[in-house]
Amino acid sequence: MDDAEFIYGCEQLGGYQWGDYDIKKVEQAIEKSISEGINEFDTADCYGLGMSETRLGKIIKSYNREKVRINTKFGVRIDNSGTRCVDNSIEWMSSAIDQSLKRLNTDYIDLYLLHSWDKKTDLNIIFCKLEELRRDGKILKYGVSNLINLEDVIYNRYNINSFSLEFSYVCHENNMYINNYLKNNIRFMPYGVLAQGLLSGKYKTNDFKTNDRRNQSDYRHFHGQKFNDNKKKVSKLLGLSTKLGLSCSALAVIYSKLYFKNTCPIVGIKNTKQLDDLLTIKNYVMSNTNLSILLEDD
Ligand SMILES: NC(=O)c1ccc[n+]([C@@H]2O[C@H](COP(=O)([O-])OP(=O)(O)OC[C@H]3O[C@@H](n4cnc5c(N)ncnc54)[C@H](OP(=O)(O)O)[C@@H]3O)[C@@H](O)[C@H]2O)c1
Repeated sequence: MDDAEFIYGCEQLGGYQWGDYDIKKVEQAIEKSISEGINEFDTADCYGLGMSETRLGKIIKSYNREKVRINTKFGVRIDNSGTRCVDNSIEWMSSAIDQSLKRLNTDYIDLYLLHSWDKKTDLNIIFCKLEELRRDGKILKYGVSNLINLEDVIYNRYNINSFSLEFSYVCHENNMYINNYLKNNIRFMPYGVLAQGLLSGKYKTNDFKTNDRRNQSDYRHFHGQKFNDNKKKVSKLLGLSTKLGLSCSALAVIYSKLYFKNTCPIVGIKNTKQLDDLLTIKNYVMSNTNLSILLEDD
């Protein structure tokens, strides 16, 4: 199965701290995305305290399992009070994979990702366990996210298939690490490609409700000087998108897909209107001239 235009990000399906919206609409958008050939999904055991996986599992039950790809992650634990910790212990991994399989209603995960490294557990131990899960048939492939500075010996020793880091028109902090992975022929799945919605061009202010994570200062694209700088960049992108007959969001996704080679961006989508907007990139052919303008314009 070839990569689609983008991977459907399912953190929003978890319904936790993303503001007021209707989860049913996210579910409808996921159904539609499958019918449109967007059939790879990014989730994690901790998204919505397991609800993202549970809801995704219910949806994919009525599809041929081989027609969808499920990517999920382990290693970030969030308890019922919302306290977060990173735990890559083998004990936690062993129980996390079985819990994910159960919630997702499946007997294998297409791509299993280390969500974040706890900097305690030896990476060799983690990758050996992932190899074991692959041999047991519980996962088909494995990868990493939020992990930088991998040593060459790790690339050579293990079959790391894909990696995920934040990247977008307004986020270039990881470029050096991204290039290092790509040199090792590992597929890139950037997240935050809409800078959590900012690159849609619809946010002029940052007055998010308290039940929306973007209200917090660690969602830095929406706060302080960075927000002011970002707004200038967004208006540039908006200008170009209007000229090209695309929405600003669609152009931001194209940007994240074409900036590096071997890349399939992850996008968080809340409803079919947003999905339809992004589906416009499916048959869009960007001329080399416009591509140069886009890539130079950041
Ligand atoms: N590996 C990791 O550690 C990691 C970390 C973060 C995320 N992720 C994955 O990446 C996915 C997406 O990243 P993200 O959560 O940072 O968000 P994002 O994709 O940068 O932005 C998503 C938000 O943009 C808005 N949006 C989406 N499509 C739109 C459209 N066509 N027009 C206007 N607004 C639109 C929606 O919010 P509003 O409508 O409310 O504005 C949506 O929630 C997540 O679901 C998750 O699967 C992975």
